[in-house]
Amino acid sequence: MTHGSRTFPHRHLLGLEGLSAASLTQVLDLAETFLELSERPIKKVPTLRGRTVINLFLEASTRTRTSFEIAAKRLSADAVNISGSGSSTSKGESLLDTARNLAAMRPDVVVLRHHASGAAELVARHIDAAIVNAGDGTHEHPTQGLLDASTIRHHKGRIDGLEVAIVGDIEHSRVARSNLHGLTTLGARLRLCAPFTMLPHGIAAVAGERHSQVSVHHRLESALEGADVVMMLRIQRERMGDGPARFPSNREYARQFGLSPRTLAYAKADAIVMHPGPINRGVELDPTVADGGRSVILEQVTRGVAIRMAILYLLGAGSGSAED
Ligand code: NCD
Repeated sequence: MTHGSRTFPHRHLLGLEGLSAASLTQVLDLAETFLELSERPIKKVPTLRGRTVINLFLEASTRTRTSFEIAAKRLSADAVNISGSGSSTSKGESLLDTARNLAAMRPDVVVLRHHASGAAELVARHIDAAIVNAGDGTHEHPTQGLLDASTIRHHKGRIDGLEVAIVGDIEHSRVARSNLHGLTTLGARLRLCAPFTMLPHGIAAVAGERHSQVSVHHRLESALEGADVVMMLRIQRERMGDGPARFPSNREYARQFGLSPRTLAYAKADAIVMHPGPINRGVELDPTVADGGRSVILEQVTRGVAIRMAILYLLGAGSGSAED
């Protein structure tokens, strides 16, 4: 299988911030060929044979960890998986020491999930392998942003000019931040919607020069009005610490910000419903919507494998240049 001769001008994938529309599109296009491979009875190609991928997951994960492992295996790379509880970080070893020791074993790619924002960039500055950020604190989750863009492009035929509503705990969501960069770069307009307590002041400025493509809403109905895509987020309690509650109760949150057949009716008739998972059913998403005909949530998961194959290929096959 050939994947074109265009080189990907990045050595790591730390975030979608700063990636050009051309680079984003290159990943999305390549993922389509891997998606097709994943539909075949024999799902393996020898592309990364002899390469080593270490998945270092120091924070909980089901979808992302499994999908990186499957992606590496479908490309015939040797995949090694390390999780927080079974690693020496639970004995007090620092992230950098763990990373340096893993680097001493000469992996080609290290995929890192960590609770601290900036962890992937820190590791990238100190070791030689290509680093893929699989979620760092509340900062970015670039492969999720890419798989979301891939799903949207497939269903809508384009991203440019679409109205995308992202609803929920924006403050703690690295998924929202990656989508903010990725989707605005690809020309979408974003409506960010959350209670006042979960939508940081000035969030639109995160989009930098594309901030005019971002609007902020505190009422679900106004965020959904005429939307092409509705992306719901989980309330990330594990990131809220012991501070005061951000909303009175799950029931109250569901009433004001939950996506139900009633509230979905504000969006366009052909709007798709997305969620990065894990879903808190009955809180941000009514089960009838989660399992309904407009939901593309499981397709997001399928595309996640293809996107991760594309990223491992672009960074792991030795095609990256020295630039970041
Ligand atoms: C997200 C994450 O971990 O940031 N999940 C995922 O990777 N699919 C979102 C979440 O945890 O709510």
